[in-house]
Amino acid sequence: MTEKITPEEIQKIISSVPLLSASANQLLQATTDPDHDLMQIVNVVKTDATLTARVLKVVNSAAFGLINEITSLDRAISYLGERLVVGIAIGDCAAQLFDKELKGYEGEHGALWRHDLRTAIASREVVTQSNSTINPDLAFTAGLLHDIGKALISDYLQGTASDVLQKIENNEFSDYLAAEEELIGFDHPRAGYELALVWKLPEPIAEVIRFHHTPAEASEEFRELVYAVHLGDNIAMMGGCGTGADSMQYMLDTNYTQYVDLHPNALANIMLVVNEDYEKLERSFSEAGE
Ligand SMILES: [Fe+2]
Ligand SMILES: [Fe+2]
Repeated sequence: MTEKITPEEIQKIISSVPLLSASANQLLQATTDPDHDLMQIVNVVKTDATLTARVLKVVNSAAFGLINEITSLDRAISYLGERLVVGIAIGDCAAQLFDKELKGYEGEHGALWRHDLRTAIASREVVTQSNSTINPDLAFTAGLLHDIGKALISDYLQGTASDVLQKIENNEFSDYLAAEEELIGFDHPRAGYELALVWKLPEPIAEVIRFHHTPAEASEEFRELVYAVHLGDNIAMMGGCGTGADSMQYMLDTNYTQYVDLHPNALANIMLVVNEDYEKLERSFSEAGE
């Protein structure tokens, strides 16, 4: 028998999660501002000694194979690019959530981070390859955070996975989202959205977290971005990298074609890019974290 999560309970769960650092928050705000430039990113990182050290460590890690060490922060950031810097900042602050073993989804240790990183890369590629006006860095960051709600509710779903899959098979549940809602009274997008409010995440990112499985419900202003991450999420799962039992157990909204203008061959191509890029990014993150 599962326990229901009440609105008070979700706030209690969220209060046990560390807040984002001031620098991570400022970086997220900058990424969502269409007029920002790289100097703004550099100036935020400069104010945070730990983050500065991490950025320099990542750029000089074996994953990038640089011959000469980069010692200037400006050069490090322009070499890594904004999204990676923001990724490092979020990854550090939310490590407790990203590293959580998703027992409720029977996910392996690190499954959430791996899936989120692949979704981030895929979302960035969707935006880039469809010649969208959306900032690819924003798509990446939103992809990285889209499933954060799973870390909040996973413990409450323990022991339910095989039953849920059976019920989806028998059409008793329409998908995994409906199962979460029915069993514990909260699905992971809604739980994630509650965290987004507490963390004061920028609106487009909060919207992605809330509607990444139901993009048609997102507000018109952010719908294109939400569809891009919806597709990115599905590409990550199609590539065999979900977070556990729930992989591919959600609906794909095929209306994405109205918002994302991709050539029919693009999906296969994006999967290839995701595989290549993932190896490099994963290595740089983990080497720098040691
Ligand atoms: Fe999700
Ligand atoms: Fe996902």
